[in-house]
Amino acid sequence: MSVSLIVGAQWGDEGKGKIVDLLATKADIVARYQGGANAGHTIVIDGKQYVLHLIPSGILTEGVKCIIGNGVVIDPVALMQEIAMLKENGIEVKDRLFISHKAHLIMPYHKLLDQVREKSSIENAIGTTGRGIGPSYIDKAKRSGIRIVDLLDRVEFEKKLRSSLEEYNNILTKIYSETEINVEELVETYLEFDKLIDPYVTDTTLLINEAVKEGKKIIVEGAQGALLDLDHGTYPFVTSSNPTSGGACTGLGLPPTKINKIIGIVKAYSTRVGNGPFPTELNDEIGEKLRKEGNEFGATTGRPRRCGWLDLIALKYSVMINGIEDIALTKLDVLDNFDELKICIGYTINGKKMKSFPANLNMDTKIDLEYITFKGWNTSLNGITTYEKLPNEVKEYIKYIEDFVDAKVTIISTSPDRNDTIIR
Ligand code: GDP
Ligand code: IMO
Ligand code: MG
Repeated sequence: MSVSLIVGAQWGDEGKGKIVDLLATKADIVARYQGGANAGHTIVIDGKQYVLHLIPSGILTEGVKCIIGNGVVIDPVALMQEIAMLKENGIEVKDRLFISHKAHLIMPYHKLLDQVREKSSIENAIGTTGRGIGPSYIDKAKRSGIRIVDLLDRVEFEKKLRSSLEEYNNILTKIYSETEINVEELVETYLEFDKLIDPYVTDTTLLINEAVKEGKKIIVEGAQGALLDLDHGTYPFVTSSNPTSGGACTGLGLPPTKINKIIGIVKAYSTRVGNGPFPTELNDEIGEKLRKEGNEFGATTGRPRRCGWLDLIALKYSVMINGIEDIALTKLDVLDNFDELKICIGYTINGKKMKSFPANLNMDTKIDLEYITFKGWNTSLNGITTYEKLPNEVKEYIKYIEDFVDAKVTIISTSPDRNDTIIR
């Protein structure tokens, strides 16, 4: 029996896709539990790059079954595009992709509302991906969401859609001067989607729990990262789901007692895309160098990612709330050409040293950051396949992280490619 949970330990884009793909080569099932097409998980196999938004990163390994759990919000347009992209690349999803009948649907008005709300107030904008994530989870929490299972009954579906559109058309036309969305057209479009999605829809809660019972090897794939968590992240600059490990239980119907291992994916420095507090952000040539060497541009929106040094106050907090014991440290190679590297090891606010990551950070909070400086290794990590062969400076950097956050770095990634990974 083995269920391993992979979580993003920072602000997303830590390299979850690469690590999940690698681990999936020895797994039976890979399951997503939250978020939606706001995610962009990049996988590179023998030089060929794939970006997945909704379908779990196990789909590139033949024979691996992929589950989209009840906690995910599904945009059928994005899903169909992704299935088509995979088919074009010779990857069959039939009999391999399983979608929860309890998952909520993203409707066109969710995407539109997400985008117009962001545009209407630049100073309060979160910098969302515009994929309708927030508005869809709002409907879910307000108990007016439309689930995949609702597509089965045309009459009920139309009734729910009419009721939602009554409210949203009002908001869209009166507040945002957008054109009204036609109910009949939307019903037809979604019933067409239903036909396309139907072969994949099933009771994934039963599927995953039976697989656990049969001793199957399961990888649970988080999207986003701990500091974007709705409860534990830098609220309100967060996403609308729980990427932290607890979300995996509710998002799949998987009991906490069935999770055997939690691996945090940690980028060797920090990035954030979108707005919100980012204490170690570097708005200088070092930040620019990290962005360039790390090719830090969003996999979903193409936006440049904000870059900064590794922040161990944030990471220690993330390790604590996720229960991370193992770390996969990614993008170490991006630090190959630095004379000096810094890691943040303390926050002082208003003369008070913080014991943990603060809950009330905003963009204007003045933080005195304490850094420790490391000598760079100034050599390429390309081609190194064992931990022993890593330069001493790399080992020191890793050891410091391990001791500070009390977790073991068991996977080290040195390029986007599946093969360039050191397992310790
Ligand atoms: P995810 O959202 O956590 O799956 O991460 P993204 O795919 O959005 O962003 C990570 C980016 O870094 C992608 O372009 C990956 O191909 C790339 N990447 C992953 N691991 C490494 C690594 O060890 N070194 C380098 N240079 N790039 C990496
Ligand atoms: P992966 O899975 C990085 C960010 C957005 C924005 C905030 C809210 O690839 O790591 P949303 O569209 O979710 O309402 O946007 O969250 N965000 C991500 N940042 N990686 C992601 O996913 C993200 N998904 C959302 O930029 O700041
Ligand atoms: Mg990403």
